[in-house]
Amino acid sequence: MNISIIVAASKNNAIGKNNQLLWHLPNDMKFFKQTTWALPVVMGRKTFESMGSKALNGRLNIIITKQKDYKADSVVVVNSIEDAVFVAHEHSYKELMIIGGGEIYKQAMSIANKIYLTRVDTIIDGDTFFEMDETHWELMFADKHPVDEKHKFAYTFETWLRK
Ligand SMILES: NC(=O)c1ccc[n+]([C@@H]2O[C@H](COP(=O)([O-])OP(=O)(O)OC[C@H]3O[C@@H](n4cnc5c(N)ncnc54)[C@H](OP(=O)(O)O)[C@@H]3O)[C@@H](O)[C@H]2O)c1
Repeated sequence: MNISIIVAASKNNAIGKNNQLLWHLPNDMKFFKQTTWALPVVMGRKTFESMGSKALNGRLNIIITKQKDYKADSVVVVNSIEDAVFVAHEHSYKELMIIGGGEIYKQAMSIANKIYLTRVDTIIDGDTFFEMDETHWELMFADKHPVDEKHKFAYTFETWLRK
């Protein structure tokens, strides 16, 4: 099974602040939905709660927490990243999507083989970051989009594969 990370990060690698995203980019939300559709999405408990504790529809939602009694509707709760991978594998998925946040990205980096990175063309204040060591990754695809009336920042959809 392929393990992919999907993330949007500023030029200074910020991805969030106060448990919220840092921008509203409708095309990136569309890209996220298309890319993750019908696949298992794995997220940390804080990211899940930042979305109002609501499962993303059309996808198996797997929430990671250390809490043994954590409960939420329409999601699978696990206590480790390994268990999240196990659950997705058991369901015979070909690709698993790691959708954040910072803590989960950091721990999943060593097991991921693909990164969908939306690089947002700004330097912005954040409290959560996504860092990748580009020497281990090869840029396969980059598609740049300019600022427009719906997008305050320019952004580039990048696909990276592990070398
Ligand atoms: N820009 C983007 O693409 C993007 C995507 C997603 C999220 N975000 C942002 O990222 C921020 C949230 O990230 P975060 O780093 O604060 O939190 P997070 O990674 O979403 O969740 C952290 C929580 O996950 C659980 N956890 C982490 N490692 C674990 C392990 N090894 N075993 C079991 N449970 C584990 C813990 O839950 P318990 O405390 O319950 O044990 C921990 O508190 C928000 O600002 C959000 O908006 C940005």
